[in-house]
Amino acid sequence: MSETYTASITAPVNIATLKYWGKRDTSLNLPTNSSISVTLDQSDLKTTTSAMTCSSFTKDRLWLNGEEDLQLSESKRLTQVLANLRLKRKEKEAKDASLTKISSWFIHIVSINNFPTAAGLASSAAGFAALVACVAKLLQLDDDMTELSKIARQGSGSACRSLFGGFVAWEMGEKSDGSDSKAVEVAPLEHWPQMKACVLVACADKKDVSSTSGMQLTVKTSDLFQKRITEVVPERFEQMKKSIMDRDFELFAELTMKDSNSFHATCLDSYPPIFYMNDTSRKVVRLVHTINAFYGRTIVAYTFDAGPNAVLYYLEENEEKLMSFIYAMFKDLSGWESKYNGEQLSKFLKNFEE
Ligand code: DP6
Repeated sequence: MSETYTASITAPVNIATLKYWGKRDTSLNLPTNSSISVTLDQSDLKTTTSAMTCSSFTKDRLWLNGEEDLQLSESKRLTQVLANLRLKRKEKEAKDASLTKISSWFIHIVSINNFPTAAGLASSAAGFAALVACVAKLLQLDDDMTELSKIARQGSGSACRSLFGGFVAWEMGEKSDGSDSKAVEVAPLEHWPQMKACVLVACADKKDVSSTSGMQLTVKTSDLFQKRITEVVPERFEQMKKSIMDRDFELFAELTMKDSNSFHATCLDSYPPIFYMNDTSRKVVRLVHTINAFYGRTIVAYTFDAGPNAVLYYLEENEEKLMSFIYAMFKDLSGWESKYNGEQLSKFLKNFEE
């Protein structure tokens, strides 16, 4: 039997709190602004990827959620990512003659998402991050995550951030070859373990406008976009990193919500406009502001990617406060009234619905 190598890895989804939206170079996938995200490592949203290489394989193959992707060779991003990883292995083999020359072997990859794919739940982020980390392990590369993030970025921009847990920044970089456009850790999850996220799935269908094409339409046609990338985001990037370092939830939450709104505003300002949020999303926005007003301080933040599903960030100590509202809003009113001042809440929710 031919010699085989195998590797397996899981990569979690990351949800941006400061959004990446726009490319300055589409082939190297270089962004027009830096971004920040939180990797949901303790959540159930994950991609699990396994890879095998064997001297007798006759072509690269990929199975996504149980179905073979027969267009693999036509996917520029995938072939570029695999070529970059193989090149690194080749360099290693050139330095060490005792290594088996697996850089020239074909690879079979099996990848499974345990959440809706392409529904604006960062499936490409987890997908490419898992693929890069898995093939890097398969090829026994010694590169650190920041180095690998430059390859993952070329698969899908947001994927570079999923190689790290916790709070992560993707620094846009300045160089035209992309060598300084990379993900770095802002803080590990243990720095702020009280931070929680909850995903409200408003619609699990595939999105109408992909992030890739949506963002380029925004780059080309939105006037708001210039202000966003030159003034708004650079300042917010520093403020958000500081809010994380200081564990300042109120500031972190405000910046997160404002950035989600700013990103969706540039989508609306694109021509023709792009709508990712729907009526349910807007209901969630109003609910979050209602909850924060009710408690007289910011205890929860929303953010929406390129889809209608909301991700809420909150501190663990406020989980019950938040969930009672969510259940009241989206289910029925039983069960929570004894815990929270039912009369007060009902009145408040009634006002909210009017
Ligand atoms: C709204 O990373 O999916 O989720 O680089 O073209 O693959 P490509 O785009 P992608 O865009 C993600 C956009 C976003 C914001 C974010 O994750 O920062």
